Amino acid sequence: VAQILDGRAAAAALRKELAARIARLAERDCTPCLTMIRVGEDPASLVYVRAKERACRKLGVRSTTLALPPETSAAALRAEIARLNADPAVHGIILQLPVPETLPQEELIAAIDPGKDVDGFHPVNVGRLCLGQPGFVSATPLGILRLLRHHGVVVAGRRVVVLGRSRIVGRPLANLLSRQGADGDATVTICHSRTRDLAEISRAAEILIAAVGRPRFVTAEMVGAGAIVVDVGIHSLPGVGPGGKRRLCGDVAFDEVARRAAMISPVPGGVGPMTVACLVANTVAAAEAAPGVAPPGGGRA
Ligand code: GUN
Repeated sequence: VAQILDGRAAAAALRKELAARIARLAERDCTPCLTMIRVGEDPASLVYVRAKERACRKLGVRSTTLALPPETSAAALRAEIARLNADPAVHGIILQLPVPETLPQEELIAAIDPGKDVDGFHPVNVGRLCLGQPGFVSATPLGILRLLRHHGVVVAGRRVVVLGRSRIVGRPLANLLSRQGADGDATVTICHSRTRDLAEISRAAEILIAAVGRPRFVTAEMVGAGAIVVDVGIHSLPGVGPGGKRRLCGDVAFDEVARRAAMISPVPGGVGPMTVACLVANTVAAAEAAPGVAPPGGGRA
């Protein structure tokens, strides 16, 4: 049976590094601050935003959430974003997606200061990633790379298949994995809903990343023996589990795939904890780079 890619342990290791960086920022009178904008009452967004607030609180990072009604106008949102861009106490800004269909989502993302775009969704940051330049990268792909690295998995030269081409996971992840240098140099194939012979392609993967958004989509017959499988999906199952908790599953049929794979990330406890920890890491990096923050050791008598 496959070894577990333990996202809780890898996230705890990252949080330890972050705590030290946050302490150094405190010496410079800076508390990193993440502001989330949530428009309407999408139930999944509510869960995600709460998880991000909790992760910030645990590490002493400030977080604020602007919960706006679904009828909020584009002009009002643009004004809020401009206000947050100009506020030196705010280091990271997240527009929680999806926004109601009446709003111009792409234009609003582009209104965020790229230096505060800790989601890495701004066209400038997406462009920088494509060019291999430094910039913010979306937290889930960063978390996946870190989860693999924590367990000693080297991706260079390996055949990686990414199932899914979303802006949040598939596309940025494929970019990171295929670029030159650390955590890259992989041979990457992106599959999607129009891919023919999907099972044949996914079976050839040494590392298989499932980010399709469909519960238990990846079955054992789609996985090569000894593959490393990363499950990015998160879905609620009907009923409640032990302790009254929600029952969750991923994009992978865990039990049957775990009997075939060499390593597998579980749901919950795999990619999820890495995503929120990496989002806090992006916010800390934004604070470290903020123009108003005194350089280490300097600025004060
Ligand atoms: N909706 C689902 N995932 C995300 C995310 O990572 N960032 C934002 N802004 N919205 C999301």
